[in-house]
Amino acid sequence: MLKVVVLVSGGGTNLQAIIDAVNAGTITNTEVVGVISNNKNAYALERASKAGIPSLCISPKDFASRAEFNQALLDAVNDFGADLIVLAGFLVVIPEMVIEAYRNRIINIHPSLIPAFCGTGFYGLKVHEAALEKGVKVVGATVHFVDEGTDTGAIILQKAVEVQQGDTPEVLQRRVMEQAEWKILPRAIDLIANGKVKVIDNKVVIK
Ligand code: GRF
Repeated sequence: MLKVVVLVSGGGTNLQAIIDAVNAGTITNTEVVGVISNNKNAYALERASKAGIPSLCISPKDFASRAEFNQALLDAVNDFGADLIVLAGFLVVIPEMVIEAYRNRIINIHPSLIPAFCGTGFYGLKVHEAALEKGVKVVGATVHFVDEGTDTGAIILQKAVEVQQGDTPEVLQRRVMEQAEWKILPRAIDLIANGKVKVIDNKVVIK
């Protein structure tokens, strides 16, 4: 059983997609053992509690230094016994000590087709605003491993979504979630849980 800890900051629709997929059996061999939010008001925490999943709030604001926050986050994922950390809309930069301890065991969902519209400053609605501003006709989402860079780790899965005439950033964001994020994030977890994802020369090979 792959023990998964999901890190969230907001609404938690990706967390919900994971919970639903575990319950439906489309993610196999997996248990969501904990949810960690940096925001105590995140609706994601309510989703965790409804699903009977233990949750914690760990915010940089509650620590005297960043180093103490980093240690608390690492201790929490260790205490949950995590095999895999899933960043599902987590808006805090992952400390290097966590990346080192969980090399190729942290994945993130990003709402664009990396390398488009990614890196520092590209999060949430800003990604979709930039895509509409550029006038691209196809957008999408990416699940990737987390390394020390921003959105630079090995790509696991991507799915394309068409832009439609008259899209607003909000409408496009919702379509990318429904058609891409909620599908490829659970799928990536299932592949990892079943030993099908290998990283070779910093690229993912799916067996
Ligand atoms: C998603 O768009 C995700 O790609 C991004 O943050 C958003 C999180 O949404 N990184 P939710 O909290 O899962 O509803």
